[in-house]
Formats: sequence, structure tokens, C-alpha cells
Amino acid sequence: MSYPLNKVSKQILEDRLNDELVAFYTYWYLSMCCQLSGYYKASDYFEKESHDEKCHAKMITEYMLGRGEETELPKLDQPEVNFTDLKDAINLALKMEIDLAKRYEKSIKESLESGDIMTFNFLMRYLDIQKESIKELSEKQTIFAKLDEEEDQREAEQFAFEDKPTVDVKS
Ligand SMILES: [Fe+2]
Repeated sequence: MSYPLNKVSKQILEDRLNDELVAFYTYWYLSMCCQLSGYYKASDYFEKESHDEKCHAKMITEYMLGRGEETELPKLDQPEVNFTDLKDAINLALKMEIDLAKRYEKSIKESLESGDIMTFNFLMRYLDIQKESIKELSEKQTIFAKLDEEEDQREAEQFAFEDKPTVDVKS
């Protein structure tokens, strides 16, 4: 016996699963690009983010399985990632996370309106995840915001991709 999802929730979860997998791909690609350019700390950071995104996707498939749903993994396109330096890469990642936060907010509202409180409750945890990602990347963006020279970026990378940046950013 299972407790099936309603149509609205099923579509929401499939869409957000797709988004998480796109984020997984995007961070993976950013990590490779940074490695190629010798930004090793940034590469490690994006690699870790890529792993986290895969975990976020898996949380969704596990939830759907728990509701008795067959889950198909979506076909993924190559991520559209255009950037020329580390500053661009951070801006791109931050934009992606903000867009994702907005989609979760919309999805949470829709799942509540559809009467699926269990899915509403499940999706709420993603707001905290998005909040943390946005905070981390905003801190890095602050460090890189005024840098134009590649030499400066290399110095800033050492600082920005330490375990915990010390810049205080108001959220
Ligand atoms: Fe995520």
C-alpha cells in the first residue's frame, strides 16, 4: 500500500529533480574548467557542490519512491556555462542558486495549494539548503566583485575558497 502523490506534486518533484541534476552537471563542469585553469581550490569547492547537488536530487527520488512513485531520471542537456574567469563562475553559480530558490518557493506554494502537506513539508527543507548556498556564494562574490586582473583573482581564490571565508556579508 502506498500514499500516492497528486498530479501537481508529482510534476513539481520531477521538475525540481531536473533542476538539481542540472546543478549537479553545472558544478561538475565548473570544477573541471577551474582545474584546467589552475584554480585548484575553486575546483575542489565546485566538485563538492556538485556532489551536494547529486545528494539533493537523490533526496527527491527517495521521497518519490517512499510515496510509491516510479521515478524516471530526466535526460540532461549539457549545461550552458559561459564564463571567462573565476569571478564569472561565482556569479553564474550564485544566479543558478537564486533561480533555484525562487522555483522552490513557487513549488512550495503550489504544493500547499494542492493540499499535499507532506510534499509541502518535504520541500521546505530545500529553502534552508538554498539559503546556505546563496550565503556562501554571496561571500565569495563580495571578495571577487572588484577584481579584474587575473593575478588578483589568483590571490583572492586562496582567500575565498578557504573552508570558511571571514568576510561578513549581510544576508
Ligand atoms: Fe541543490
